[in-house]
Amino acid sequence: MKKTIRDFNLSNKKVIIRCDLNVPLKDGVILDDNRIKKSLETINYAINNNAKVIILSHLGRVKTEEDKASNSLYPVSIRLKELLKRDVIFINETRGSVLENAISNMNPKDVILVENTRYEDVLDKKESNNNEELAKYWASLADIFINDAFGTSHRNHASNVGIASYLPSGIGFLVEKEINMLGDLLNSPKRPYVVIMGGAKMNDKIKIIDKLAAKADYILLGGGIANTFLTAKGYDLKQSVYDKQSIDVAKDMLNKYANKIVLPEDGYGSLEYKDDIDVFYSSINNVALNTMLLDIGPKSIELFSKYINQAKTIFWNGPVGVCEFKNFEYGTKSICELLKNSGATVVVGGGDSAAAAIRFGYENAFSHVSTGGGASLEFIEKKSLPAIEVIDEK
Ligand code: 3PG
Repeated sequence: MKKTIRDFNLSNKKVIIRCDLNVPLKDGVILDDNRIKKSLETINYAINNNAKVIILSHLGRVKTEEDKASNSLYPVSIRLKELLKRDVIFINETRGSVLENAISNMNPKDVILVENTRYEDVLDKKESNNNEELAKYWASLADIFINDAFGTSHRNHASNVGIASYLPSGIGFLVEKEINMLGDLLNSPKRPYVVIMGGAKMNDKIKIIDKLAAKADYILLGGGIANTFLTAKGYDLKQSVYDKQSIDVAKDMLNKYANKIVLPEDGYGSLEYKDDIDVFYSSINNVALNTMLLDIGPKSIELFSKYINQAKTIFWNGPVGVCEFKNFEYGTKSICELLKNSGATVVVGGGDSAAAAIRFGYENAFSHVSTGGGASLEFIEKKSLPAIEVIDEK
């Protein structure tokens, strides 16, 4: 078992908490502060236990000097201050005397947020290549390292795997909750266990679908993934997007999991991939010429509801339609409503499905909405992640 933040005496100690504060920003405005809110429990625990709290996070991808301005954590420091209801000292550099002096002057309960760790990527990708000198430098600034950045735990970077190699380390509450909730899906789901998978690209998710289908009682498919399976079954979906390379894999899975895979029966489509356009309803076996399906329809929702309503555990990953378009949000919104009323333990994988759940107002309707996109899928596939693996055992 991994050590957690509870296993340390934090009083008067300098504690680096690696958070994932990688929030969507537009012109300096935070579009979704969910990841900041989910980080508060661990930060508050450290404050209440008299730690000197040093927060590290990445934001976006920084390759050149020009990328820095639009990827500063400064707006995040302002929001963090509001949410914590206390001062947050923002240090606009990732190393150097200003940072070192600020840390030496800290009192217990003080909070410092250090500038985007990926500023270090401009020279030799030091952060992303887990540069040893950088990891040792950051480790030298503190006494204890806590990894609470679940969304980044599939990365082998200096600010997570690197620092943990040189300091006593533990996981925070968010990482603990994520691995418990996602781990239960792999180890001991209450049955019936229903998986809903959507999203555009099948290729990225083949291993995950296989892993989940093996464990689940039913796997309901939507989006481009469903189109690939339907095409593999011989349906002609006209211009609908599907993954040609994955047709044979889909055929194999249809044989292997014949009694588990449930596919849509109808959908909404249009002549072009855009929102403001005429919408056509189609049954799967009668898609009109030149039409691309962009959402699932009411018959599919009715079919899916039979499985969802009897489920005890549900894992949902990936929207079942192009739900960022108003005309094609019906399927994904309907799935959210069904999940909310299902009475099952509902875990939503991060990334697009989490963003959709939050955007449609279902943030608090489910047992757990993961903060990890790639990380949650990699955890399900491999049952571990590098930045969690490296943490000290109890
Ligand atoms: C995410 O948003 O999935 C995490 O913050 C990781 O970001 P990355 O894909 O840029 O490493």
